[in-house]
Amino acid sequence: MSTYTEDKRKVTTHRLSEMKQRKEKISMLTAYDFTMASIIDGAGIDVILVGDSASNVMAGNVTTLPITLDQMIYHASSVTKAAKRALVTVDMPFGTYQGNAYDAFASAVRIMKETGADALKLEGGEEVIDSVKKIIAAGIPVMGHLGLMPQSINKFGTYTVRAKEEAEAEKLVKDAHLLEDAGCFAIVIEKVPAKLAERVASELQIPIIGIGAGGAVDGQVLVAQDMLGMNINNFAPRFLRKYANLKEVITTAVGRYIEDVKHCDFPNEKEQY
Ligand code: KIV
Repeated sequence: MSTYTEDKRKVTTHRLSEMKQRKEKISMLTAYDFTMASIIDGAGIDVILVGDSASNVMAGNVTTLPITLDQMIYHASSVTKAAKRALVTVDMPFGTYQGNAYDAFASAVRIMKETGADALKLEGGEEVIDSVKKIIAAGIPVMGHLGLMPQSINKFGTYTVRAKEEAEAEKLVKDAHLLEDAGCFAIVIEKVPAKLAERVASELQIPIIGIGAGGAVDGQVLVAQDMLGMNINNFAPRFLRKYANLKEVITTAVGRYIEDVKHCDFPNEKEQY
């Protein structure tokens, strides 16, 4: 089985910064469990995101809002056991950092102590900057997240492209600078016009990782189940490229298994004791 790189050294925030400087794109995918994280890490991914999209993908919720700190800690501690090379970044779930910097700090410390993660991700700019600063002051690397922020879906009311209007675009640029000045090591920018993401990536020194933000940023992130063709609700936004159709592969394999069981073809003589 081929892996992308022979370089088995652990990816660090410092190495991500070097990648931006030498214009090497950063690859990032989500994982929420040990098995998927082992495969993705073994394939050579740079960053694994234990995304709060686990709320949708793993738990079947409609939004990311219901997932709890304990549930994120459970997912993250399974992933860190698997990741030998990738930098593991964990989403702080809704409600654990927006209230005040002290609660944010306490939530951040729990995730770091109980999971062994390398870094945390928070959604928002100016509104959460005190929390970001407090967490970074404790020595915890923070990745920002701007543009479409799924934890704010009830405010946005829609998952369509963000920052098409000038005022929202200018706020996004300002927030990106605030996050960089606060010490974030990278920022995810989700579902914004490619030109705007390009501007942010060129103005900032830290890596900008895009999802639905065009190709001129410093790296890309997708939800693994989406790019592997595993999602059951036919989610197919323009930015999603499918690299496999695992839903079909699994359905066919399960169908063959059912048929073998029903026809007394499984197990055969060699498959018993
Ligand atoms: O939770 C998640 O999967 C994310 C990515 C979409 C960036 O935040």
